[in-house]
Amino acid sequence: MSFYVTTPIYYVNAAPHLGHAYSTIAADVMARHMRQRGEDVFFLTGTDEHGEPVALAAEREGLTPQELVDRNAPRFIDLMPRLNASNDFFVRTTDPEHMAKVQEVLSRIRDNGHVYEGIYEGWYCPRCADFKTDAELGPDNTCLIHKTPLQREKEDNYFFRLSAFQDDLLELLDEQPDFVMPRHRYNEARSFIESGLQDVSLSRSTFTWGVPVPWDDKHVFYVWFDALLNYYTALSYARPGEDLTERFWPASFHLIGKDILKFHTVFWPAMLLAAGLPLPRHVFVHGFLLMAAEGAPADGDKPALEKMSKSMGNVLDPFQIIDEFGTDALRYYCMRDVTFGQDGEVSTARFAVLYESELANDFGNLASRTVAMVHRYRDGVVPGAQLDGELAVEIDGASTELAELLDRADLSNGLDAIWQRVRRLNRYVEEQAPWKLAKDPAQAAQLDRVLASLTEALRVVGVLLHPWMPDSTGKLLHALGAPELELEGARMQAGRLGTIEKLEPLFPKH
Ligand code: ME8
Ligand code: MG
Repeated sequence: MSFYVTTPIYYVNAAPHLGHAYSTIAADVMARHMRQRGEDVFFLTGTDEHGEPVALAAEREGLTPQELVDRNAPRFIDLMPRLNASNDFFVRTTDPEHMAKVQEVLSRIRDNGHVYEGIYEGWYCPRCADFKTDAELGPDNTCLIHKTPLQREKEDNYFFRLSAFQDDLLELLDEQPDFVMPRHRYNEARSFIESGLQDVSLSRSTFTWGVPVPWDDKHVFYVWFDALLNYYTALSYARPGEDLTERFWPASFHLIGKDILKFHTVFWPAMLLAAGLPLPRHVFVHGFLLMAAEGAPADGDKPALEKMSKSMGNVLDPFQIIDEFGTDALRYYCMRDVTFGQDGEVSTARFAVLYESELANDFGNLASRTVAMVHRYRDGVVPGAQLDGELAVEIDGASTELAELLDRADLSNGLDAIWQRVRRLNRYVEEQAPWKLAKDPAQAAQLDRVLASLTEALRVVGVLLHPWMPDSTGKLLHALGAPELELEGARMQAGRLGTIEKLEPLFPKH
């Protein structure tokens, strides 16, 4: 089966922060897990490069918009290998192939009768690039997200007949209750649609940095329509000379943050319906990483938690964390400390705690001591003994459990299911106390059995954990002489392992 997962495409007018890394890591975990299941996977990420904020930022810096985006896009392009993201392509909305395809699809939407010309008048947030409906206005006509004043805009626009799709969208949500996940986000999308859809601006005519409207050269397409289409256009040119659209469209999962729910759960399916294109299977909406905002004290002594964002200045730099602790530690922390689908606080202090207690102790130490005991007691050869049946039952249940959870993008419970096994193995070591068995020659067979079970279970955990921590699990599986990653092989097998290598600490103490 084909599996196509996407992240939002990020605005290039700010530096990447941990929030961007978060969505990318989550998508990467899903992509890697599905590859382990033998699925035909495509994983897309990229940058959103058009629109007024970019044009304005370029002007301020005395650059052309193209110069600005060419300077900034590499920050995101370079982030991907640093995160160990296995994206199959990186789309930029300034790619000429993307732009041509945007013109083609939006012309089709117009040919299908869903576009008309009119005058737009209303409130606009330049930071969100969003025309706000009345329900989305903060006090004194401010942006609810950015808390900054909205602009009153009046201009000639082409409109997309979003209102015509209200019933179709409600029907979609009825028939495909997992179109929007998790459930509370489904409810949010539903109530937005039920509150009544207004037609939306499809083009802008007050600036030129965008995809030109092919039927009217005074207009460029509104950046959101250009941006959303990336998920579809990229497949047509990601592989030179090959069109992957048939193979991967519709997308299996769009992963997004809750800030862009309206665009992905209302505008996007309506656009696809208007163009006569198949709809994605799921939009999974995750929460925000929150961080204490400096200079914003709440009640009591604790500072207020705010969405991590460039404009609030409360950002963690992923590059810095990676330099100090490595990519896997960052990936693990993001996926472990913030429940996928909910908001969660992040901090360097919590990072340090989890690094120490879970990575260095629970997992790193389990791996080190297991490998060390095989060397100490059996010269580095895993005994070919029968495995502990009770332990095998607990470990072998994990791969099916994991697959079911990841089918629903439940990454947090997926990781937790694995971590329960990591803890189980630590208890197993304590219960069996191999160092005691080693002192008594009469217990040699039992020591064989314990070491064989422990090492093989560790291998299985390494395979399961691979999507979250590809680097350290890769090292572990290499040392065990069993680099195969297939999920099918994530069950304990007697005699699977032979001679193993020594292992450096996977998560050295800091
Ligand atoms: O909205 N916590 O781009 P953007 C969690 N270009 N995730 C966060 C986050 C945080 N504090 N901050 C950012 C755009 N994100 C548009 C998208 S898609 C067709 C166009 C993540 O650079 C999260 O995925 O503002 C959020 O939805 C996205 O970055 C917004 O990135
Ligand atoms: Mg944003």
